[in-house]
Amino acid sequence: MGDLTDFLQSPVTGRGLHWTPDNRLATDGGPSYAFRDGVACLLPEAGGGVAASDASQTVRDFYETEGWAEDDEGLFGDTKAFVDTRAVSLAFTRKCMARLSRHFSKGGRYLLDAGSGAIPHKEVLAYGDQYEQRVCVDLATSALRSARSKLGERGIYVQGDLTNLPFKTGSFYAVTCNHVIYQIPLEHQPAAFRELWRVLKPRGFGVVVYLWSYVPLARRLERLARLFMGKRVMDLVETAKPSEPLPELSHHPQRRSWFEAQDWPFRYTFDTFRIVDNAFLCSHISDDWRGRAFLRALFASQQLAPGFCGRYGAFPAIIIRKPRTAAWRSIVETPLTVPR
Ligand SMILES: C[S@@+](CC[C@H](N)C(=O)[O-])C[C@H]1O[C@@H](n2cnc3c(N)ncnc32)[C@H](O)[C@@H]1O
Repeated sequence: MGDLTDFLQSPVTGRGLHWTPDNRLATDGGPSYAFRDGVACLLPEAGGGVAASDASQTVRDFYETEGWAEDDEGLFGDTKAFVDTRAVSLAFTRKCMARLSRHFSKGGRYLLDAGSGAIPHKEVLAYGDQYEQRVCVDLATSALRSARSKLGERGIYVQGDLTNLPFKTGSFYAVTCNHVIYQIPLEHQPAAFRELWRVLKPRGFGVVVYLWSYVPLARRLERLARLFMGKRVMDLVETAKPSEPLPELSHHPQRRSWFEAQDWPFRYTFDTFRIVDNAFLCSHISDDWRGRAFLRALFASQQLAPGFCGRYGAFPAIIIRKPRTAAWRSIVETPLTVPR
């Protein structure tokens, strides 16, 4: 097993870290960081960035308290708030998660799970099967404690911020990042995407599940569902609403045109996670054979045309890649510093 100091860096100075005799992580000329209950605590407390913003504090508070607390049935607060947990919808969502595992079949040494949360679904946990270690990073320590109870020694746990990752450039074979970046305020989202790219090894890739704010297919799919399920659908709207009131978390999804207009340092393609959002499932899918048949057709469309569904559906899986030449380019493009 590798040591944390192989790939950790200070989020303040950007320099490597070493262990101190009292089991802290320190860098020369910078602050030191606690290592508590198996979690390296690497948030730049005094250092600004998105982690210090009110918006991130709200996210962190939610996930430190209710978000990753389990109820008597083992359901997390996050799942109850954001996932339609009726049997038919949940089975579809799980199939969508499992579908993305194909990207991770090659394996490698380190997989980064950015904004891992508690890794609440076994289908997502399985992305790490072919990797020696899964490095989980999250703002919330409760998320990491819960992830640790599942992964144990196969995991490495770091409290950190996606927009200023405490990892050395080129550390990871692959990145998985699910439902995190649209929780970050818009002005910091480009930094999060760039950080995921930065920490990839040359030839590495990341699968980023994002949410579009405008879904061209939504109206058509709603009409199709109404046609297929008839009046029964309207009767369902009330029963399918999430039982828990939604927490005061604002999400910041963007349009695809925003994403495509950015000057990204990486190449990307679109796959799809799920063509419809949670509101669609709650209000248009019946928890019976009709709903199951309709979702089977949606899943088949995702299989047949993943790029199209990723562009025009609700949740794309954005595949970012770091070419082999990126390492050479970064050496050539680094400005020469001439001593005075
Ligand atoms: C909706 S949950 C998703 C968890 C998990 N990836 C999944 O798909 O089940 C979002 C997670 O991202 C974390 N998060 C949000 N903003 C973050 C940031 N700037 N840096 C690191 N983690 C963040 C939250 O604490 C939370 O655990």
